Amino acid sequence: MSTFPSGVAVVTSQDQQGALRGSTCTSLCSVSLRPPILLVSLHLRSGTLATIRRAGSFAVNFLHSRGRYAAELFSTAVADRFRRIEWERTPNLSQPWLVRDAHATAECRLTETVEVADHGVVFGVVREVLTVRGAPAPLLYGQREYRRWPEALTAEG
Ligand SMILES: Cc1cc2nc3c(=O)[nH]c(=O)nc-3n(C[C@H](O)[C@H](O)[C@H](O)COP(=O)(O)O)c2cc1C
Repeated sequence: MSTFPSGVAVVTSQDQQGALRGSTCTSLCSVSLRPPILLVSLHLRSGTLATIRRAGSFAVNFLHSRGRYAAELFSTAVADRFRRIEWERTPNLSQPWLVRDAHATAECRLTETVEVADHGVVFGVVREVLTVRGAPAPLLYGQREYRRWPEALTAEG
């Protein structure tokens, strides 16, 4: 899969007890249009997965190219990740919104979780999409490296 480049997101969630968790995630895809449903696949040991299950909602923060620090922070074992980054609550579902690092954020209500081997596949119906006008281009990840959005190909390739 390292040869299949993708965008990079940080999936965040806060439960009713106030526990805040977030994980960098590239196993993310669009599932349906009506209603808009997406999925993220998280390891069964992921603290973020446990929090999403308790909270019943989560946010998908689609990172831009200046969000690399967030991608690195949310993929490490650092405990107080949310103290090291700017965040706010999303307007409708009050989920953690990485305002400085995401070019768009989808607020999602959990519909179901399906366990497949060592991962939990989380399905969420998108309630609102927040976009940042004029944000840098999306951050990419492929061949085990972060990359910038490339120039468009010419007809000759
Ligand atoms: C670029 C990148 C993409 C990642 N994608 C995923 C993913 O899709 N699913 C997953 O479970 N972990 C993924 N990880 C690993 C998690 O971000 C990492 O294990 C994180 O510490 C989990 O945090 P948590 O246990 O607090 O949820 C990825 C890491 C990197 C660097």
